[in-house]
Amino acid sequence: MIRRDIRIGLFGAGNVGRHLLEALRQAPNVNIVGLWNRHPGKWKAVAGDIPVVDTPEQMPAADIFILALKDDVLTDFSAHLKGRNVLTVHTSGAMHSDVLKVDRRGVFYPLQTLTSGSAVEWESIPLLVWAPDAHDLQLLQDLAVRISKNVHVIDDSQRAQLHVAAVFTANFTNAMMQMAKEISDKAHVPYNLLLPLVRRNFNNMLSHDPAEVLTGPARRGDRKTIEKHLQLLQENGLYDEAEIYRRVTEWIVKRYKKSGK
Ligand SMILES: NC(=O)c1ccc[n+]([C@@H]2O[C@H](COP(=O)([O-])OP(=O)(O)OC[C@H]3O[C@@H](n4cnc5c(N)ncnc54)[C@H](OP(=O)(O)O)[C@@H]3O)[C@@H](O)[C@H]2O)c1
Repeated sequence: MIRRDIRIGLFGAGNVGRHLLEALRQAPNVNIVGLWNRHPGKWKAVAGDIPVVDTPEQMPAADIFILALKDDVLTDFSAHLKGRNVLTVHTSGAMHSDVLKVDRRGVFYPLQTLTSGSAVEWESIPLLVWAPDAHDLQLLQDLAVRISKNVHVIDDSQRAQLHVAAVFTANFTNAMMQMAKEISDKAHVPYNLLLPLVRRNFNNMLSHDPAEVLTGPARRGDRKTIEKHLQLLQENGLYDEAEIYRRVTEWIVKRYKKSGK
């Protein structure tokens, strides 16, 4: 464990960058040496006495550069930092560490949905770190444990797969709820009648294997109810939703038939 300050240069004032700034500020023995963003004005209100640099090349010397930038720009952007001999990491779940065209590279991925304006409890957020070089990986772990109690070494391939799982967990369940809202809106019934069901469902999944707590017509094999639901969706012009209903129902039926439960 390194006891001296870890010096950080932070690039990107988006959702992750802004939340990370707060986490790094509160972390013990972390010194934020500079901030950069394409539109530097975004840092002005929150930077305090931390210097905001105009170009990536002006970022002061540091132990780690964190690029909290849009996935698509990481490769081109990292070229600005080549030759600095600073461990340079991105914060993306999906991207391989080798998208960074620098000599010392790695990943510092918070497995959480981060949006502006919502409070974040960094202590419990899984921080997934990876670097091909053992010393660099140790440095990332030393930084991560100053922010979270939930730090894991996960390589590029494992992280990419976990990111797919995270999309199902967070993004697709959100999309499902948007569809549920559309269906209840069309029927002129209050969407909030569904919210106790949301809470119970997620609580069940927090304490059990999801396969153990699934209920519903597909799980029971209630064919008549399934046909009725598909018909109602089609009558309301919800063709995409009907297709999704059909495919997910097939998935559930197949899954439980295979497991013999
Ligand atoms: N949000 C999450 O829940 C979450 C969670 C974990 C990991 N991540 C990962 O964290 C990274 C940042 O995500 P985010 O949610 O913070 O994104 P975001 O809020 O959309 O912010 C994107 C950042 O990229 C910068 N950017 C966009 N185009 C650029 C360009 N051409 N050149 C230089 N900078 C550019 C933006 O600058 P401007 O401000 O000037 O537009 C901004 O700083 C991504 O790799 C994402 O996969 C996100």
